[in-house]
Amino acid sequence: MDQNQLKQAVAQAAVEYCLTKIDSDSIVGIGTGSTANCFIDQIAEHKHLFNGTVASSEGSAERLRSHGIEVFDLNQVAEITIYIDGADETNPQLELIKGGGAALTREKIVTAVAKEFVCIADESKWVDSLGTFPLPVEVIPMARSHVARELVKLGGDPVWREGVVTDNGNVILDVHHLYPMASACELEEKINHITGVVTNGLFALKPADILFLATQDGIKTYYPKT
Ligand code: 5RP
Repeated sequence: MDQNQLKQAVAQAAVEYCLTKIDSDSIVGIGTGSTANCFIDQIAEHKHLFNGTVASSEGSAERLRSHGIEVFDLNQVAEITIYIDGADETNPQLELIKGGGAALTREKIVTAVAKEFVCIADESKWVDSLGTFPLPVEVIPMARSHVARELVKLGGDPVWREGVVTDNGNVILDVHHLYPMASACELEEKINHITGVVTNGLFALKPADILFLATQDGIKTYYPKT
């Protein structure tokens, strides 16, 4: 199977899982990216089985609406039954790097509200230690140079993703050379404490609850390794 077929396969596994968890009152959290798009396209045929969705980006919201799926503002909903999203890297603890699509802040907010976070990925995203994929950091525009200098002090090599403005009106610094990452939780906290940082793409303090990983040998299911 090529990578697109793997993404389609893992999206199908996530749809089947999701259908066991939702009812007509449920709000489904929807992530961002090509794998999440596969999920959106497949869950569309089951849209009558749940109340609606909350999306982690304007792009995903538009795709959901194009299928006739209701998209709520997060402030309109009290809870999210389940959140489905992809990742740029995952380790065996299901700590993730996310934000390749620049949606990391809204993704982290939806994760915080969701009762269950299901990560869907193909096998290219599986790593023993995080940090080969450059870590996205969302930054208030006027703080870009300050934050970059602070990230260098933490051992990283930040690169401004020029031309990209997030859905929140901010900029992205991609931090290279963090591999191997000793403690993802510690680094997540340290970066979030830099003044001017909105959030960073480490999902370690609150990792995924379950991972469906598409491999050439089929879909594998992982729970956080302790
Ligand atoms: C977007 C993300 C995506 O989940 C991540 O970039 C993976 O994308 P894809 O499924 O296209 O590989 O975090 O901000």
